[in-house]
Amino acid sequence: MVIRPVRPDEYETAGALVASAYRELLQDALDDGYADHIRNVRWRAERSDVYVAASDERLLGCVTYVADISSPLAEGLLAGEAEIRMLAVDPDSQGLGVGRALAAHCIELARQQGAVAVFLHSTAEMQIARHIYQSLGFVRTPQRDDEPDPGVLLLGFRLEF
Ligand SMILES: CC(C)(COP(=O)(O)OP(=O)(O)OC[C@H]1O[C@@H](n2cnc3c(N)ncnc32)[C@H](O)[C@@H]1OP(=O)(O)O)[C@@H](O)C(=O)NCCC(=O)NCCS
Repeated sequence: MVIRPVRPDEYETAGALVASAYRELLQDALDDGYADHIRNVRWRAERSDVYVAASDERLLGCVTYVADISSPLAEGLLAGEAEIRMLAVDPDSQGLGVGRALAAHCIELARQQGAVAVFLHSTAEMQIARHIYQSLGFVRTPQRDDEPDPGVLLLGFRLEF
């Protein structure tokens, strides 16, 4: 498996992968508007860094790395922090270490660029992601939780270097 930047000819496939991972988790709670948003890898890749995990050209997972607060994708970031967003692994390839490897890749990028910390939002449903983040050293930052829409609670997690 390699982790590398997504190519433009993979935007559709990577987007479908992210949507299918979120659909599997959220099922009927994933509304069409949000599904379209998370499928839109092109939009994210043109404004931040999108990485894929691939094996023999088959995409296994995808993650968006936000380098700093200046990105339009920065969500609740503070100066000096980088961010992980939209981590997703193809449901057929889950449980093999792909998600952990993608998250670790982003942490390494942040470390190399001299970030003071990595921040991210997750949700209560995302138990597996939470396990990965906490085992990589992220701690809950409840003071940075957010509720962008009524009933949608985003939980803050932060890894300080
Ligand atoms: C979260 C996600 C990316 C993880 O990808 P993955 O490739 O399956 O994850 P990994 O195989 O690297 O790691 C899974 C870990 O979770 C553990 N795990 C598996 N099922 C679990 C469960 N039901 N509850 C808690 N932990 C669980 C595994 O034991 C493993 O931990 P370990 O490395 O300590 O042994 C994937 O499940 C996904 O796409 N989920 C839907 C989207 C999502 O929730 N994204 C997070 C956005 S914040």
